[in-house]
Amino acid sequence: MEVVPESTTSAVPAPTPELITELRCVAVHLARTAAAHVRLRRTQVRGAAGALRADAVQSKSTPTDPVTVVDTETEELIRALLSESRPGERVFGEEGGGSVGDGSQIVWVVDPIDGTVNFMYGIPAYSVSVAAMQGGRSLAGAVADVPGDQVYSAGLGAGAERIGSDGTVTALRCTEVDSISMALLATGFGYSAERRARQGQLIAEVLPRVRDIRRVGSAALDLCMVAAGLVDAHYEHGLNTWDWAAGALIAAEAGARLRLPAAGTVAKTGELVVAAAPGIAEELMTLFDDLGVSKPVP
Ligand code: IPD
Repeated sequence: MEVVPESTTSAVPAPTPELITELRCVAVHLARTAAAHVRLRRTQVRGAAGALRADAVQSKSTPTDPVTVVDTETEELIRALLSESRPGERVFGEEGGGSVGDGSQIVWVVDPIDGTVNFMYGIPAYSVSVAAMQGGRSLAGAVADVPGDQVYSAGLGAGAERIGSDGTVTALRCTEVDSISMALLATGFGYSAERRARQGQLIAEVLPRVRDIRRVGSAALDLCMVAAGLVDAHYEHGLNTWDWAAGALIAAEAGARLRLPAAGTVAKTGELVVAAAPGIAEELMTLFDDLGVSKPVP
């Protein structure tokens, strides 16, 4: 099983602990600031019944793949803050584009709202995800759970933690589950009908073999839930780098084993992301290989 993205280059000099701490502080600050903005703006753009006003939403890759005015302006906010605090560093964001770059530059990988459908409807499971990547691997990352007013973060080799709304800091560890028959999995579905049809076939094979499956609606939060022991594993085909760049590091630093595509891989290829508690990782990956889940679902 890959524990780092395939693109990770050994040519990049090892980051110092000081750099990792600095990047993590920036990621936490950005995620927290952006989350406060998202919370405030939701109250301003929702309609009478709680869902977002129709004029605040447009569609992207398919009619069911939304982008709201708040996604766009939150990414702009993060980009503006980065240009002040980290001038000259690249940004790769869900709404504004960019790339993960190559080589030794630091690249900030941003999902301004992960779980946009939940955000639209008012389901309290959406997040802001910010990661600092270098040479294809995440050095630091933060995921702000917007409705929960808490921030998950990790630094490479420095552990993972959750800071609660009252400032309480909790170190994160995966569960100690040791059998997939007792494992609670989180997963998600893409926006295209073709991919969903295949994902549905695969889930029908996986479901009878595990404790149960959750579809929370924010892959970044799913990965943090693996870290926090709220689920035992997460898997999904066709995630974008901004969906997993922070959350996968947070899960790994809490003990999870990962399988990741190369950073920057486009979602269209449908490659698999897995983060699993260490006691079930091998068994789960073997099951995924046997059932064909490990293959891409374009
Ligand atoms: C989506 C969420 C969802 C996952 C989708 C993603 P978005 O991100 O992470 O849980 O199943 O594949 O696209 O579109 O809300 O940023």
